[in-house]
Amino acid sequence: MTALLEVEDLRVAYGKIEAVKGISFSVEAGQVVTLIGTNGAGKTTTLRTLSGLLKPSSGRITFDGKPLGGVPAHKIVSLGLAHSPEGRHIFPRLTITENLQLGAFLRTDKAGIEKDIQRAYDLFPILGERRKQAAGTLSGGEQQMLAMGRALMSQPQLLMLDEPSMGLSPIMMQKIMETIVELKAQGTTILLVEQNAQAALSLADQAHVMEVGTIKLSGPGSELLHDESVRKTYLGED
Ligand SMILES: Nc1ncnc2c1ncn2[C@@H]1O[C@H](COP(=O)(O)OP(=O)(O)OP(=O)(O)O)[C@@H](O)[C@H]1O
Ligand SMILES: [Mg+2]
Repeated sequence: MTALLEVEDLRVAYGKIEAVKGISFSVEAGQVVTLIGTNGAGKTTTLRTLSGLLKPSSGRITFDGKPLGGVPAHKIVSLGLAHSPEGRHIFPRLTITENLQLGAFLRTDKAGIEKDIQRAYDLFPILGERRKQAAGTLSGGEQQMLAMGRALMSQPQLLMLDEPSMGLSPIMMQKIMETIVELKAQGTTILLVEQNAQAALSLADQAHVMEVGTIKLSGPGSELLHDESVRKTYLGED
């Protein structure tokens, strides 16, 4: 079986500084795969490159059997790869519904779009309750829900989430993690970037630990959760 996403020896640089130094990993359809690692490890750079927002200096990205090299970002969305960015980047002055509609900007099937907006409200009832309000009035956790809902509006084959738990209370973080489990149960394939290693490893099929632009360690989430070096470095244990 070929993977939905295949990343081979990917390198990405900002000018002379190489932020991603030859990483390889794959994501099978139906899996949750996580990239964990400390600040500056290159996680966001990796996702932005997969989305076509940054150009790799070398390496190969294959998505659903097609090479993504040189494919512009909007085309990548239409191929089925959606990105919920670090920091959320919702549009604060637009309503919740309008933010969701923007996630469907490449679609023309009005009835389908309506159905998926309803699906986002089913997934996150608070978004439905406040659909007509400006998105900037939402709490941080609710904005994260909106960012995830918006990414889902392109009907992605692969959903990439960059630090969805960042800055959230433990309860809100748990809600977001539960939603990831629910999306997986519904068949969504997810590439999850997290600094919260405990949460990410607990739900990931496969995990990769990034350190200064490289993948240091890979394995099933449950395995890395019990790995001594991971526990020391990322789970704050002595
Ligand atoms: N626009 C940029 N210009 C120059 N260097 C950058 C730029 N964006 C990121 N970097 C550098 O690239 C490296 C990787 O950054 P990246 O944002 O990918 O890390 P990250 O793993 O997502 O970190 P964090 O957990 O803090 O979000 C860092 O050293 C960072 O300073
Ligand atoms: Mg980041």
